Amino acid sequence: MHMYDILNRKRLGKALSRQEIEYFVRGCTTGEIPDYQLSALLMAICIQGMNEEETAWLTMAMARSGQMADLSHIPGIKVDKHSTGGVGDKVTLVAAPLAAACGVTVAKMSGRGLGYTGGTIDKLESIPGFTTQLPPETFADIAGTVGVCIVSQSGELAPADKKLYALRDVTATVESLPLIASSIMSKKLAGGSDCIVLDVKTGSGAFMKTLEDSRALARAMVSIGSQAGKPTAALITDMNRPLGMTVGNALEMEEACQVLCGQGPEDVRRLSVAVASAMVWLAKKASGMEEAQALVEEKLRDGSARERMEEMIRRQGGDPEVVRHPECLPQGRVSRQVLAASSGWLGAMDTQGIGRCSVLLGAGREKKDSPLDYGAGIRFAKTLGSCVEKGEVLATVYAETEQIAEEGAKVLEKALRIAPVPLEIPPLFYDWITEKDVKKK
Ligand code: URA
Repeated sequence: MHMYDILNRKRLGKALSRQEIEYFVRGCTTGEIPDYQLSALLMAICIQGMNEEETAWLTMAMARSGQMADLSHIPGIKVDKHSTGGVGDKVTLVAAPLAAACGVTVAKMSGRGLGYTGGTIDKLESIPGFTTQLPPETFADIAGTVGVCIVSQSGELAPADKKLYALRDVTATVESLPLIASSIMSKKLAGGSDCIVLDVKTGSGAFMKTLEDSRALARAMVSIGSQAGKPTAALITDMNRPLGMTVGNALEMEEACQVLCGQGPEDVRRLSVAVASAMVWLAKKASGMEEAQALVEEKLRDGSARERMEEMIRRQGGDPEVVRHPECLPQGRVSRQVLAASSGWLGAMDTQGIGRCSVLLGAGREKKDSPLDYGAGIRFAKTLGSCVEKGEVLATVYAETEQIAEEGAKVLEKALRIAPVPLEIPPLFYDWITEKDVKKK
């Protein structure tokens, strides 16, 4: 087999065979295929696309390019959950213990935040003493007995994706549907769970800006999961505003704990219940989504989801008191309020601008090894569409120094727009895509 011929076929818009795809993914992993040929192939894929079969073969080859987590010794049906990246997205912190309380096993590897979106691992590490690095036996033991354990990705999951992503980043080929879908799903398949629930964000703060593109990405990923024998469902959710009232690690942890205690913002609660319900349904703990949702609501109401969270925190070295007393979490040293410059309605929240503000405050990373300030972030006083009076508090920013808080407040001010008339508020979620939708196409 020759890379030249593979390149030529894709340039002409032909479908690649499974062998051809496995050949170039192997060559990418071993370093035998030079970057210039891989880059040319990525560009050809970006322009000519890939059909569903090719995309699934690419995903599986990338998933197998490194270690595949083996969770088969952990009892129960293991369900993973993934978000394509949002601002203020703390859904995993609520949905995972909720699903566990319903009998689902969540043995999850999560990532750290990079750029303007946060990461579950950073949020959990804001809990004093909490560790996300555990020996495999301890990980399996906690997941098997508590029903939920969340650790940071160890070893090299899907190294071919890492290499291809770095090339995509510098060759203007990130925005290709088959390449995005295979990149995300290769890491999910390598994570070893039996089923996968995806939260595909759509809107100004998301990877996919339009509903049409988000639907296409969701369909592609559900199709990959289905072809790999892993039941997968995707929920398309709005990212034209941050989720909940907080952005920042300890602040988001606090909000997730509030929801688990029966309080907290309604949007976080609704989305977490929806995601957990799909996890319960895919794990066959309920016969349909309605029954799953009723079970999830009950476990939220009766405190069993909160107890799962407390137990997971205790077993992972943290202080479970933070769930009922989030004031034990790190707090920002200084704060600044952002006030409404005029009266009207909070008509637009530039989610990327808000994400960038949180990075500037110290809650996120510019580079992979940038240090974090766990107490830094934003607490909103108003939500999208709220009626506001001139001079009212829109949000408070938290940081380590006066200067950082001052700069952050200025950036946040620009990200919040007051409209003179009320505007239409987009729905919180749009659509479920399940295997049934993909098969009936
Ligand atoms: N996230 C990924 O892991 N890969 C992509 O290509 C895009 C988002």
